[in-house]
Amino acid sequence: MRRTKALVAAITTTPGGQAALRLKTAAGAISAPGQVCLACRTGGGDPLRHTLLPVALHPDGFTCAHPDGVRWFPGDELDLLGPLGRGFHPPAHGGRWLLAAVGLPFDTQLPLLHMGLGRHAEVAVLAEAPMLLPPEVEVVNQLDLAADWADYIALAVSMEGLRQLETDTAYKALKPHAAIAEVLLLTPLACGRGVCAACALEGRRHRIRACTDGLVFPLAEVLT
Ligand code: FES
Repeated sequence: MRRTKALVAAITTTPGGQAALRLKTAAGAISAPGQVCLACRTGGGDPLRHTLLPVALHPDGFTCAHPDGVRWFPGDELDLLGPLGRGFHPPAHGGRWLLAAVGLPFDTQLPLLHMGLGRHAEVAVLAEAPMLLPPEVEVVNQLDLAADWADYIALAVSMEGLRQLETDTAYKALKPHAAIAEVLLLTPLACGRGVCAACALEGRRHRIRACTDGLVFPLAEVLT
């Protein structure tokens, strides 16, 4: 993880309609879908760093949802820590990818969706809300059929979303497919270095820290 500078280049919106920031960064600030950065305004304007999860990757930076509780403007300089986390590990070539977000906007899965299309994968999306997607992406609503069809499953979930996966019968179809499923767990982060325990949670086998063990986990590792 490196410490670099970023520039707020523009205020924009995500495809799902959230307020977003277009950031210009040093090369490699984010190198894979599923990685995040921690950022604060240079000069001490923000007491804490905020987690930035890209909704689009660009050659000179990324676009992410505008963090809650801050007002950053074009021209602001950010102090960036990243990339943080291991990112997703999808098949290198093709395959049948099922992507979903639980408790988070589906925007968070768009970098992975575009990676899949770039790798000539068949991509299906389980969407909680309608949104504009590339025409080659199939939108599905029956999780059990889609999970049987897929050979790679990638989820993005909040902590509440994780509890939903564990308890909501609508998601029980995922459990038999846990071996091919990864989950990006977006939990509150503070230090990002495994020091403060702000992101610690009970995994299936032992206590884990999202920042250093994730943020992307095998699904079987986080479902209790
Ligand atoms: S954010 Fe501090 S241990 Fe993970």
